[in-house]
Amino acid sequence: MTNPVEVTHQGPKPKHVAIIMDGNGRWAEARNRPRAFGHQEGVKSTREIVEVGVEYGLEALTLFAFSSENWQRPKKEVDLLMGLLQRSLKKESPELARNNIRVRFIGDMSAFSDVLAEQIQKTELDTTHNTGLNLTIALNYGGRWDITQAVRQIAQEVERGTLTLQQIDGDVMAKHVCLADVPDPDLFIRTGGEYRVSNYLLWQLAYTELYFTPVYWPDFRREQFLEALAEFPKRQRRFGLTGEQASRKNFA
Ligand code: IPE
Ligand code: IPE
Ligand code: MG
Repeated sequence: MTNPVEVTHQGPKPKHVAIIMDGNGRWAEARNRPRAFGHQEGVKSTREIVEVGVEYGLEALTLFAFSSENWQRPKKEVDLLMGLLQRSLKKESPELARNNIRVRFIGDMSAFSDVLAEQIQKTELDTTHNTGLNLTIALNYGGRWDITQAVRQIAQEVERGTLTLQQIDGDVMAKHVCLADVPDPDLFIRTGGEYRVSNYLLWQLAYTELYFTPVYWPDFRREQFLEALAEFPKRQRRFGLTGEQASRKNFA
């Protein structure tokens, strides 16, 4: 964590950035290399983006690493991704801890091997008292799963009698979906050139500014991230109001 980021833009900075790290496979295929090579290079980008996130002073950074749909890929690729995840977490955890980063995971953790599940727990535990960047890694995550698990918890509270039907509103939902303790993402970035959300943070992205880039994830580094961050203050967030109302409110 040496090079200070040159923050040149003015205006509001995003507090929470959510990223779909896409394009590893195509990056490798374009080089006539196996997809695995792209995933390995992608880890380097992830490292750099977290570093820049810390220097920039982000409050939260949420990264999509493996979706609930990615299990349908060939077993060889799934196994490779699981191994890479486990090894990367093991290798990076001490530095994440030293840099005051609080790491957490969202998604259905019941599906992972014991080794990976233990590493996930260890990384969370080792960084649990940190007060800097809230780094969330979405693993076996799906936005529909997230909303469904929230509804299930709420239904259980109604069944127990601790919540009434009338009390269920957007705020109650927001408290039960993942990432309840960080602000909703201000900026969404998807690399790899696809214009879709792919079942990421469906509830939380309601008013997020969307940024798409054709750059494949292994090539998405400091410069590309800063470019995306610099796009944010150029947007006017209106949350349903008129432009004039919104400028008076000065939404960050
Ligand atoms: C993103 O890259 C990583 C994961 C989904 C795990 P991809 O593997 O989806 O790369 P492309 O989209 O096939 O190029
Ligand atoms: C989204 O990428 C999931 C992750 C980056 C982990 P995908 O590559 O799985 O998305 P689709 O299949 O192109 O929609
Ligand atoms: Mg992809």
